[in-house]
Amino acid sequence: NAAVDAAIAAYRRGEPILVHDAADREGETDLIYPAHAVDADAVARLRNDAGGLICVALSDEVAAAWSLPFMQEQLDHPAAADHELAYDERSSFSLTVNHRDTFTGITDADRALTISRLGESARAPDTLEFAADFRAPGHVHLLRAAPELLGDRQGHTELAVALAIAADRPPAAVVCEMLDDETGEALSPADARTYADRNGLAYVEGADLIARLA
Ligand code: 5RP
Ligand code: CA
Ligand code: ZN
Repeated sequence: NAAVDAAIAAYRRGEPILVHDAADREGETDLIYPAHAVDADAVARLRNDAGGLICVALSDEVAAAWSLPFMQEQLDHPAAADHELAYDERSSFSLTVNHRDTFTGITDADRALTISRLGESARAPDTLEFAADFRAPGHVHLLRAAPELLGDRQGHTELAVALAIAADRPPAAVVCEMLDDETGEALSPADARTYADRNGLAYVEGADLIARLA
């Protein structure tokens, strides 16, 4: 599949790509970058052009090395007792974090620092004392991928991490939903493709990634 080849090659070059999960799941297209390649301009593009929640998806191995739990299991609050989702068995949300060298944590430069350091650290996760470099809560959401990736769960969390591994890059990717500025709804796949074409970016269907990488 040429779209899968193009997406893997673009990811390897540090370029953003677009991934639509499935019409019968969220029905969302996420803008995805390798975390280590994110700078302040990339964060500006994520918030201006994508507009959803800026999250860093980590492999299960990296999350385990850093003792990153699922958020729902950490919250001792009735709102977290039942976390029913309409589109999946469970969410992949873990902690929110900021790099300790950030100020507020929300500026483009601050989020770029948090995200890029997460990406760099994911190359050799065992060498990082996580709490020495990052504080929680913060302004970047972490997502923990399922252990067997696409064999277990087929969210953008797993799609992004599987793509990172296929591209031979650290298993840490920033993902953000593309929202439609006119309607506030998820950007349609047709409009996401138009955005990709206009900006010279790769667009790929989750099903095609699953067929190659699962
Ligand atoms: C965090 C989300 C997004 O949908 C993101 O794509 C990760 O979730 P999933 O793996 O469930 O697709 O909810 O903004
Ligand atoms: Ca926008
Ligand atoms: Zn998603």
